[in-house]
Amino acid sequence: MSHSSPAHPFARGRRLRSTPALRRLTAQTRLAPADFVLPVFVKQGIDAPVAISSMPGVVQHTMDSLRKTAHEAAEAGISGLMLFGIPGEKDPVGSQADAADGIVNVALQQLRADLGDELVLMADLCLCEYTDHGHCGVVTPAGVVDNDPTLDRYAAVAIAQARAGAHVIAPSGMMDGQVAAIRQALDGGGFPETPILAYAAKYASGFYGPFREAAEGAPQFGDRSTYQMDPPNADEALREVAQDLAEGADAVMVKPALPYLDIITRVADAVHVPVTAYQVSGEYAMVEAAAANGWVDRERAILETLTAIRRAGAGTVLTYWAVEAARLLR
Ligand code: PBG
Repeated sequence: MSHSSPAHPFARGRRLRSTPALRRLTAQTRLAPADFVLPVFVKQGIDAPVAISSMPGVVQHTMDSLRKTAHEAAEAGISGLMLFGIPGEKDPVGSQADAADGIVNVALQQLRADLGDELVLMADLCLCEYTDHGHCGVVTPAGVVDNDPTLDRYAAVAIAQARAGAHVIAPSGMMDGQVAAIRQALDGGGFPETPILAYAAKYASGFYGPFREAAEGAPQFGDRSTYQMDPPNADEALREVAQDLAEGADAVMVKPALPYLDIITRVADAVHVPVTAYQVSGEYAMVEAAAANGWVDRERAILETLTAIRRAGAGTVLTYWAVEAARLLR
C-alpha cells in the first residue's frame, strides 16, 4: 500500500500545523497582558530595594520602587497587583497588618492615589508576614493555630485594607469561616461593594520556599499542614471552593498552579465565578534556576507554563513574570 494515497483517509494532525499563521489561527488558548496579576512585596524601613536570592529579578520594594513598578505594570497592560507587606515590627497577633500606618496599608493608599482605578489593587490578607511566630493566625499557648480568634483579626485587617484603598480583599490564611467573617466585616464597615477573592484551594506546598524569604513569614515552629490542604486531595478542593462561595466569595483561587493543573480544571468546570491560579515562588525559582544553567529556554518555558495554566481553565494568573510576560506578548 502506497503511503501517498492511503486506502482509508485518516486525520492528519500536521495539516493545521504547517505554518506559523495556521498555528496562530488554530490556537485554542491565547495569552494576553490582562490575564496577569503581579504579586509585590513592600518592606518597611529600607532605603533601597532588597534582592531576593531565591527569586532572581524579584525584590522587596521600598515605597518608591513599588510606585515605579506599579506604573510599569499599568503601562504593560496587566490587570492588577497583589500586595504583601513586610513590617518593621512583628508581634504575636500581627498588629501591623491592620495598623493604619502599617506598611501595606500605607502602600495601598499611595498606589490608589497614584493610579486610581487603573490597576486592580488586591490585598493579600494573612497574618504570617506580621506575626513573630510566622503562622497565618494567632496561636494558643500550646502552639496550635486558633481558628476563631484569628477570624476576628482577619475581619479587622479586611476593614483596614479596604479603607486604605484595596479594590479586592484576598484572604490566604485557610482558616475555616474566613470568607464569612470578612464579608460580614466589610458589609458592616461600609464596604459592601468590595469583592473577596478567596484563596480557596491552597495546598500545603513545598513550592512556597522562596516566598518565605521574600515575605519573611516562615513558621518559627511546626508547619502549615493543619490549615493548608493536603497535596493528595482533590475532592476537598471542590468542598473548599463550594464553602467559600457559600460564605460570599466573589472569585476563587487555586494555589500553587503548575503541580495542580487538574485542580484548576476541576474547579473551573464546577463553578461559574472567576478562577485565578497562583504561579508561586517555587515555580518561578525552578524555571529561573534551570534557565540560568542553560537547561531550558527561559522565555519559551515562561510562556509555556502560563499557557498551560490558562489552558487548564484559569482566567487570571498571579505570576512574578506578569510584567515581563505582558511585554513578551506585545
Ligand atoms: C501567606 C502566603 C504564602 C504565599 C502567598 N500567601 C505563603 C505560605 O502560605 O506559606 C506563597 C506565595 C508564593 O510562594 O509565591 N499565607
